[in-house]
Amino acid sequence: MLVPSYYEFFCPVKILSGHQALKNLPYEMDQLGAKRALIVTDPGVVAAGLIQQVQAAFEGSDREIGAIFDQTPPDSSDKVARQVAELFKSKGCDCLVAVGGGSSIDTAKGANLMLTEGTDDLLKFQGAERTKKTMKPFIVVPTTAGTGSEVTMAAVITNTEKNIKMSITSYKILPNVAILDPKMTLTMPPKITAATGMDALTHAVEAYYCLQKNPVSDSLSITAIKLVLENLVKAVQNGKDEHVRLAMANAALLAGISFSNSLVGVVHSLAHATGGVCHVPHGVANAIFLPWGVEYNIGKRAEMIAELAPLFGAAPSGNAQKDASAVVSAIRDLNAKLKSLCGLPNTLRETGVTEDKLEAIAKTAVNDGTVAMNPEDVTVPDALGLLKKAF
Ligand SMILES: NC(=O)c1ccc[n+]([C@@H]2O[C@H](COP(=O)([O-])OP(=O)(O)OC[C@H]3O[C@@H](n4cnc5c(N)ncnc54)[C@H](O)[C@@H]3O)[C@@H](O)[C@H]2O)c1
Ligand SMILES: [Fe+2]
Repeated sequence: MLVPSYYEFFCPVKILSGHQALKNLPYEMDQLGAKRALIVTDPGVVAAGLIQQVQAAFEGSDREIGAIFDQTPPDSSDKVARQVAELFKSKGCDCLVAVGGGSSIDTAKGANLMLTEGTDDLLKFQGAERTKKTMKPFIVVPTTAGTGSEVTMAAVITNTEKNIKMSITSYKILPNVAILDPKMTLTMPPKITAATGMDALTHAVEAYYCLQKNPVSDSLSITAIKLVLENLVKAVQNGKDEHVRLAMANAALLAGISFSNSLVGVVHSLAHATGGVCHVPHGVANAIFLPWGVEYNIGKRAEMIAELAPLFGAAPSGNAQKDASAVVSAIRDLNAKLKSLCGLPNTLRETGVTEDKLEAIAKTAVNDGTVAMNPEDVTVPDALGLLKKAF
């Protein structure tokens, strides 16, 4: 196992995980000195009845909901974050509570940054560590089990000027509290369960062999991979099992802490680009690219990838190349199983992407920040080659 000569690791988020965890939301606001929350969510989460659960958690407490922003779209943007910040100010709120998947959480991160910096221009924070200020109180209740955004220092938001997904990373934008309550993910439809779960698996696997890996992220990745492999198929088959949902919520969280520190590679570069150019959901894109991305890195990382083989149910053969290939096969088998259970696409063609878009996706992918953390170099022809295989 590799211990790097130097690494840093950071995760200051308080974690509440359990079957009644949501009840503690007002208490956690109190701990942060906040009284009036702006809830940031999306229409699907509202339709699933989850905001009622949040409202119920406030009953009998002296904390209140100042306003609800329920119009977060998929691939949310700088413009949407600006609307959230405006609502926060106009309704006199003093803390943000994101209730949703990565789209709602990242929109709230963007809004918090604008509010704290007193600006309506989010684009200038694109890149790493462009703020030094302490953000407003921020609590996250994830309703998908995938992005791990409740514990990551990243916000992935569409830059409407360039029509690309930009990444804003900073130690400062991490939430204060993450609340994992299984009743908030019970309503997730099977296909979204599968796609977001594959996002979590991708975080854990990429974090395990990408360039900033370290013993802390490795430990988190291993547990996250185990939890996904034990629970994802069950969650797709029976979404109402609270224990399975809680396990998946923990898998996504652990994978999130892991990759927030060790970062991810070419699978995410391609997924971000495919999301930006063709609006393929993030988890769907990751599921499609993961086997190809892992295979692409075997040349430089065979031993590390081979270490994961037992977790994927492959008995170690002593031959790193062979064991790493077994990991790739196991991921393909999992994708095929999810396709048969809920129609999760296994190829780009099935998502509606057309072949003429591949070049634009490849060019966007090599400019994504994650490419720098991939063990193998990735040029435009390399990215195009992977896209053609995944097509
Ligand atoms: N910040 C990070 O660290 C990070 C990491 C990975 C991905 N992302 C970003 O997160 C976004 C994707 O987030 P996501 O995959 O969580 O999906 P999402 O937030 O876009 O939600 C997907 C759909 O699921 C619905 N939904 C969510 N929870 C539900 C529930 N419990 N019941 C019923 N329906 C529910 C939503 O209404 C929505 O229609 C992308 O923009 C991606 O780039 C961010
Ligand atoms: Fe991701």
